[in-house]
Amino acid sequence: MTKSDVPVICLDGPSGVGKGTICLAVAKKLGWHILDSGSLYRITALQVSRDFPEQAINTLDESQLADIAKNLSVSYVEKNNELVIFLGEEDITQLIRNEEIGSIASQVAAISPVREALLARQRAFLTEPGLIADGRDMGTVVFPKAVLKIYLTASAEERAQRRYKQLKDKGIDANLSSLVEELRIRDDRDMNRKTAPLKPALDAIIIDTTELDIKQVTNEVMHWVSQRVA
Ligand code: C5P
Repeated sequence: MTKSDVPVICLDGPSGVGKGTICLAVAKKLGWHILDSGSLYRITALQVSRDFPEQAINTLDESQLADIAKNLSVSYVEKNNELVIFLGEEDITQLIRNEEIGSIASQVAAISPVREALLARQRAFLTEPGLIADGRDMGTVVFPKAVLKIYLTASAEERAQRRYKQLKDKGIDANLSSLVEELRIRDDRDMNRKTAPLKPALDAIIIDTTELDIKQVTNEVMHWVSQRVA
């Protein structure tokens, strides 16, 4: 099988819609690999915030930021059924998951040279027997020939509620209305940037998950997988 024959399923959609969870569930059922493309933008954000502490992203040189993205020494290691992310020797799995890094990630993600720098890295995840890629532009830019493209949506209120519950369950204090506000800001930035804005591919199947639970969404995605993937 050549690389271009390896099947890809794209799962795109806004922040907090549950792409990661669904991606894991479907990958497990199929025994396929996963690309969490958002983690690459988050790792870039972490490195940028370390290299340029206290400096606003829009004051930084774009080609310097692209170099950081290109030269990240990142590795993904599976341990006890969980994916552990290393930057060099450092385990940064949890470090990149906070809202501050998410916000910086969405700012660096709006810079075209950074997106360019991460393209080859994302495509390198494509290995047999198949790949499930989650992000914002998987179906529109990174894997335009994917065998199946799914676009997940849910209202900002519902996504914030889910995030709120997740944080509470972890014992982390959170404020629901500021979570809604943060999601709206991130949606707005992701949908209205010039390069690779968040939008469904023309041939994507759109699933509104507002009223659905994880099992129902997974079943709906698996229904489409059974139609499209031999
Ligand atoms: O999905 P996640 O919340 O981890 O992504 C963090 C940020 O990275 C998003 O808000 C978005 O701006 C950016 N991103 C992107 N394209 C992707 C994945 C993530 O622009 N394919």
